[in-house]
Amino acid sequence: MGDELRSQSGRPARLKAWDDAAAPFVTPSLLNCDFSRVGEELDALKRDGVVAVHLDVMDGHFVPNLSYGAPVIADWRKRTDFTFDTHLMISDPGRYLDDFVKAGCDLIIIQIEAVPEPTDLIARIQAAGCRASLALNPPTPLSAIEPYLDQLDAVLVMSVMPGFGGQKFDASVLDKVRVLRASHPDLWISIDGGIKPDTAELAVAAGVSQMVVGSGVFRPDGNYAAALAELAEGIHRGLERGKGSASSAGSSSVQ
Ligand code: DX5
Ligand code: ZN
Repeated sequence: MGDELRSQSGRPARLKAWDDAAAPFVTPSLLNCDFSRVGEELDALKRDGVVAVHLDVMDGHFVPNLSYGAPVIADWRKRTDFTFDTHLMISDPGRYLDDFVKAGCDLIIIQIEAVPEPTDLIARIQAAGCRASLALNPPTPLSAIEPYLDQLDAVLVMSVMPGFGGQKFDASVLDKVRVLRASHPDLWISIDGGIKPDTAELAVAAGVSQMVVGSGVFRPDGNYAAALAELAEGIHRGLERGKGSASSAGSSSVQ
C-alpha cells in the first residue's frame, strides 16, 4: 500500500483513539519542538502517553510567520500514528485542503477570519473523512461562527493572536468558552495559546475539551513528562473548580 493510501486508511483508528482519550486532554503543538529531530520528539511524546499532536501550518500571509506544509506532514505521518490536529493559519485553505487530507491529517481547523463563508469547505473536510473545526481569534465574536455550529465537529477558541508560540494567555476569551459550553453541552471546544498549568485550570473550569500546548510542553529542560504531569494537575484542579457549574468538560464531538 502506498504511503498516501496508508495515511488515509488509518484515519478511522486515529479518530477512535482521539474519541477514546479521556477529555479534557492536552495536544502538544509541535511548533516549539526541536525540528532537527522531530521523529525523536514524537517518540518521546508517545512514551509520555500523548494521543494526538497539534500541527500549526502558517503561510506568512494570514499570520506573520511561516512554518511547514503538507509535504512535511506527510513525512511525519510515515513515522507516527498520532492523531493529527491540523491548524491551518492560511489565507486560502480550500486551495490546499486535498494535500492535507492526503498527508494524513485527521482534524482540520480553518480560521473563520480567512473563510467567512465556510459551509462548503466544512462539507469538503467531512466528506474526505476528516473532522472539521472552526477557529476564531481573540477579537472575533462568537456570532461569526454561530451559523455553522451545527455543522461543525469542533470549535477552536484562540487565546492568543495566532502566529507564534510562547505568547501570553488572553483570559477574556474564556467568556466565549463559557457561553459555548452553556449553549452546546456536547460541543468539542478546544483552546490554543498560552496554556500552562494555571491557565489550563481556568480553561477546564470554563468547559474546554482540549488544550493545545506548545511552549508549556516543549520546555527548555526537555522534561516533557514533567510538563505534562503539571498540566494534568492543572486540569484536575480545573475539573474540581468547574464542578457544580452548568458547564461540562465535554466528552464527545458534535457529529
Ligand atoms: C499559535 C499556535 C499555537 C502555538 C501555541 O499561533 O496556533 O498552537 O503553537 O503555543 P503556546 O502554547 O506556546 O502558546
Ligand atoms: Zn495552533
